[in-house]
Amino acid sequence: MSDRVNPLITAQLDALLYGETNLVANLSNASALLKQTLTDVNWAGFYLYQPESDDLILGPFQGNVACVHIENGSGVCGTGLATQTTQLVPDVHAFAGHIACDSASNAEIVVPLTLSDGTKLGVMDIDSPTKGRFTSEDQVVLEDFARTLLKHVDNA
Ligand code: SME
Repeated sequence: MSDRVNPLITAQLDALLYGETNLVANLSNASALLKQTLTDVNWAGFYLYQPESDDLILGPFQGNVACVHIENGSGVCGTGLATQTTQLVPDVHAFAGHIACDSASNAEIVVPLTLSDGTKLGVMDIDSPTKGRFTSEDQVVLEDFARTLLKHVDNA
């Protein structure tokens, strides 16, 4: 079976979140959908931006217990936040400053989440035990997934 992220996951999310705008509920179900749908993934979830301390705090996720605070600009998540660009990391051990929360993780993708008014919500973070697990095709699908998620929390 291919590990390619199936683009249908975005339609599944859209249906799953239909009619609900609660942030915690939607992030919780989105992380569960990612974890139960994607193959070869050991952690999927969210870090939320806290403007008062300019850092990220652990949000809803599926996987092993994880680091609670990540500074803006630190690690893969903080870099995604600071640069507002997706971080596609084929080998986390080659990423300077990578924060090892789960020793099983070898590849990672982080997609920044920003509301339509420019408010930084945080980042979506997905880890895999397999180096090179995420492709640029997967990135396109997961960025689309993130846009759909934002659509559901934007008018909350
Ligand atoms: N590896 C991340 C930290 C979060 S865990 O992967 C869940 C990072 O470098 O920011």
